Amino acid sequence: MTYSKIIGTGSYLPQRIMTNADLEKMVNTSDDWIQTRTGIKTRHIAAKDESTSDMALQASLRAIDAAGINKDDIGLIVLATSTPDQIFPSTACFLQNHLEIRNHCPAFDIQAVCAGFVYAISVADNFMKSGKIKHALIVGSENFSKILDWNDRTTCVLFGDGAGAIVLEAADKPGVINSVLHADGSYNQMLQVPYGVSKPEDDPFIRMQGKEVFKFAVQAMDKIVDETLQSTGIKKEDINWLIPHQANQRIINATAEKLQLPMSKVIMTVQDHGNTSAASIPLALDVGVRDGRIKQGEILLFEAIGGGFAWGANLLRY
Ligand code: ACO
Repeated sequence: MTYSKIIGTGSYLPQRIMTNADLEKMVNTSDDWIQTRTGIKTRHIAAKDESTSDMALQASLRAIDAAGINKDDIGLIVLATSTPDQIFPSTACFLQNHLEIRNHCPAFDIQAVCAGFVYAISVADNFMKSGKIKHALIVGSENFSKILDWNDRTTCVLFGDGAGAIVLEAADKPGVINSVLHADGSYNQMLQVPYGVSKPEDDPFIRMQGKEVFKFAVQAMDKIVDETLQSTGIKKEDINWLIPHQANQRIINATAEKLQLPMSKVIMTVQDHGNTSAASIPLALDVGVRDGRIKQGEILLFEAIGGGFAWGANLLRY
């Protein structure tokens, strides 16, 4: 049996930092409201001409460098995003070209909004299990600032831009121990960008029923923890690090409480990055790896929920 293991992480944040004080000048909000309700203090905003694949490239180069492999060894590129460069080709194909990978490896996007990265790990892990691929590049990259209504205080204070990447290598022991994915499309209107190819006249910005999303998120994250640990032989107390999707400090606190994990065992970046959707988990992972908190052999739990609703979790040994 072939498994997959993380051998390198990387991330990228755009240069421009937007503070809550900056937002106070744009909409009727306050630093106190934003911090109390979400935990967010700052977020990074991509430049006007900075694309999702540009950010993905920087994160990928760092992950490939950390992995110590040649970029031409990559046999698969999976990129999670809801803010692709174009309708097509996929942003993964743009990334492959930016990286000058010419080995014809498959490259495709995954669209599961904030759950995109946990979906991407699961998909790539299954490819690796086929035994045909030795290295996979998995990326989450988002340009949410471009789909925000900057006059809507209920959404524009929540999100940020950035990218994170990992390199997975084939291994004879896991690595990725278990992944659980779910979706319930009946909630599609709770969190959405209504505009689309078949509805070009519709609203091009994020719309969200925040309270309902919050309630669903807390319950779904609560259940998926047990489901992911089930029949793995790993217990809650064995988890060294919870690396949750960074949407909201209160959702993260509730999940950590359910796991009976002290907050010192949670990698938290929402205060600095805001919600970067599919990029938030690999960004947080890279922060924890590079500051030395996350060490080889430790057990990690990733979990995320986003529009769809789509949600999921990965249990890994780093
Ligand atoms: N600044 C000041 N006041 C605001 C702001 C703001 N930015 N936004 C809303 N308000 C006001 C509302 O208008 C409302 O005023 P009213 O009482 O006069 O009508 C009041 O604050 C309370 O609004 P609620 O929406 O009830 O506030 P709530 O406590 O639910 O917090 C929030 C809103 C933070 C969005 C919360 O619902 C939440 O965290 N939801 C989860 C959504 C989330 O994380 N989404 C991210 C994407 S999904 C994902 O990644 C999983």
